[in-house]
Amino acid sequence: MKQKLGVLGGGYVGLAVAVGFAERGFPVVLVESSKARFKALTQGSFFSSEGDLVQAFEKVKEDGMIHITSRVEDIQDISYLFVCVGTPEGDQGETDLSYLWAAIEQCSPYLREEACFIIKSTVPVGTGDQVQAWFDKQGKAVQVLSYPEFLREGKTLEDFRQPSRIVIGGDVNHPRVMELRQLLAEYSLPLLLTSRRDAEMIKYAANAFLATKISFINQMAQLCETLGTDIQTVAKGIGMDPRIGQAFLAAGIGYGGPCLPKDVASLMEQGRKQDLEMPILAAVARVNHDQRRWVRNQLRKQWGQLKGHVLAIWGVTFKGGSEDVRESPAVWVLEDLLKEGVHLQLYDPYGLESLKELWESRGVLESYAGQVQWAKTCWDSLEHVEGLVILTDWQEFKEVDLHRLKTVLPSSLIIDGRNLFYPSMMKQLGFKYISVGRKV
Ligand code: UDX
Repeated sequence: MKQKLGVLGGGYVGLAVAVGFAERGFPVVLVESSKARFKALTQGSFFSSEGDLVQAFEKVKEDGMIHITSRVEDIQDISYLFVCVGTPEGDQGETDLSYLWAAIEQCSPYLREEACFIIKSTVPVGTGDQVQAWFDKQGKAVQVLSYPEFLREGKTLEDFRQPSRIVIGGDVNHPRVMELRQLLAEYSLPLLLTSRRDAEMIKYAANAFLATKISFINQMAQLCETLGTDIQTVAKGIGMDPRIGQAFLAAGIGYGGPCLPKDVASLMEQGRKQDLEMPILAAVARVNHDQRRWVRNQLRKQWGQLKGHVLAIWGVTFKGGSEDVRESPAVWVLEDLLKEGVHLQLYDPYGLESLKELWESRGVLESYAGQVQWAKTCWDSLEHVEGLVILTDWQEFKEVDLHRLKTVLPSSLIIDGRNLFYPSMMKQLGFKYISVGRKV
């Protein structure tokens, strides 16, 4: 039997880490302190869009490889604790580390000597050193490591199984670190050992670079629209250069989600604290924000005033394959349309419940009731609308029966914020098809 591991936090990252190690034969103790999340984990009602993860979770539970608990005391006999708590954005773009510090204080009495406290959460550069100093001050011989996650929502388990790289920051000569290295070596995964600070920085720089690619291509899309060139062809053409690559060059309504926006903001804030302005990142965030207005601008070109019009909206989540609506550009766009007085018939394969919860938590659900209808299928959303707006790149939308769509959408107007279809084909089918940065 392999040695027992601990995971603190049962969100997307924590669950993928716990299941990923459990299916490799490590018994895992998964500690979740939130009552609601604990209940969801034990009852299996969570992350409906992460099919692989949910299936693998059920399997390792059945095999007795994972023990879910709300008691932090249960980590007592563990040598490696992977800490996967949330580090949300504070009011000024700074990172809110309150969950991390609460976890440290709760765990400290139960961490055995020589245990590794492994920070998977995204934390500002220097945080790992501060946590190490805290343990040192307590006289506790705990090794703090930074082991940032690069998992994508919707593909968390796939990314855990086959990561592009594993970055571990800490004292590389420490016996526990060498042991961890050996433990991972068995899986022949690309491994980079570095300092804690470098590991923390790698995570931010990676996400900021991905955000930069997206804002760059969106800026190019804006220019393509005015010059009559085609962003898809341009992206393909530049991406064929291996120094640039095809990934993250899909123009659309901008990036969102729980990571990219907050990590760009946090990096700028970390720069500000060092009196360093970061104009590239400021531009990345600004282009991303402005890109969300694309839908409203297109509708204005069609109708002038938007008040009173009725639209179907396909997609509310921040990307296809995830039920997450946190920092979703789709939500920003549809709220923008609601402010303009548009009536919306919303459909999303997995995200509607998350959106209801979000609006309920903000106290706005009731106020939108007169303007919003919740559709059970994409077809239901199309009844008596004047057009369709696509805001998320769900596979279901890409595979929709376009002939049927043409018959149930009398106006033929489609505003596609995710460039899901070929403009020439849509034209042939008789749609009035408007997409981002492409010729009609
Ligand atoms: C991201 C990183 O990819 C991952 O490595 C890190 O661990 C967590 O943050 P995630 O937030 O799951 O993952 O989403 P990602 O797939 O990166 O997409 C982020 C946003 O960018 C989405 O809103 C998506 O729609 C948008 N996007 C992505 C584009 O607009 N164009 C693209 O070409 C790619």
